[in-house]
Amino acid sequence: MTRVAILPSAEAAAVTVATCIADALQVDPELVIGLPTGQTPIPMYRALVELHRQGRADFGRATTFNLDEFVGLAPGDLGSYHAYMRAHLFDAINLAPERMHLFNGKRKDWRREIARFDAALSALGGLTIAVVGIGRNGHIGFNEPAPALATASHRVRLTEASRRANAAAFGGRWRRVPTHALSMGIGSILRARTVLLLATGAHKAAIVARALHGPITTRVPASLLQAHPNVLVVLDRAAAGKLPMSERRLSRGSTMKS
Ligand code: F6R
Repeated sequence: MTRVAILPSAEAAAVTVATCIADALQVDPELVIGLPTGQTPIPMYRALVELHRQGRADFGRATTFNLDEFVGLAPGDLGSYHAYMRAHLFDAINLAPERMHLFNGKRKDWRREIARFDAALSALGGLTIAVVGIGRNGHIGFNEPAPALATASHRVRLTEASRRANAAAFGGRWRRVPTHALSMGIGSILRARTVLLLATGAHKAAIVARALHGPITTRVPASLLQAHPNVLVVLDRAAAGKLPMSERRLSRGSTMKS
């Protein structure tokens, strides 16, 4: 079942997702959370840090797994998702380093790296909550559109679109964005008990509509979420702009069954 929440602004959508995570932590302090990077979650992490400061989000017993990392970047590299996570979340919350799981993009033997990551994830029984964004081409994590998708973590060649979308962290020069990434597999995301998808901005409206209402196809990886039993899609008005009018009316500021 997919529920859709349409909020009046990107900020309100971000706060909604952060609050869902904080609430879930209160119910289950040992939450295993899948985390995205990118532009969209930045206000969501800001809200989560604020909830933590207010004593409403305790990460002491939680564990996180980041969805992806660029191949060739060390955890200390500024363009890495490690650096992003430290800047936007990890340095401001009480999550112990051994509970933060990210791919090390610098590790030569990437097969061992993804095996290490997947073993840690399965030892905990998989994700409780997967927080995901959506690329304009429908990717989640870096599960790029393809005739078939890998269920487990894998190395992926990034599309030019995805490299362009990540140019900001590389001085605006998309050719400097690494050509490959390590990504959590679509199977690990779909096995999460709950999936929270956050999308904001008019540039996401077309792909959100395709993912929610188009055919389920690996050509739009996010469309596979239609088959998941527990998905909450949190949108601002702009990202909801191409959903059917009936859905936009019904779900504004609340949630509904899609
Ligand atoms: C990154 C990730 C990607 C992004 C997607 C949207 O960890 O998982 O799937 O969520 O590319 O990125 P933004 O938010 O920058 O539009």
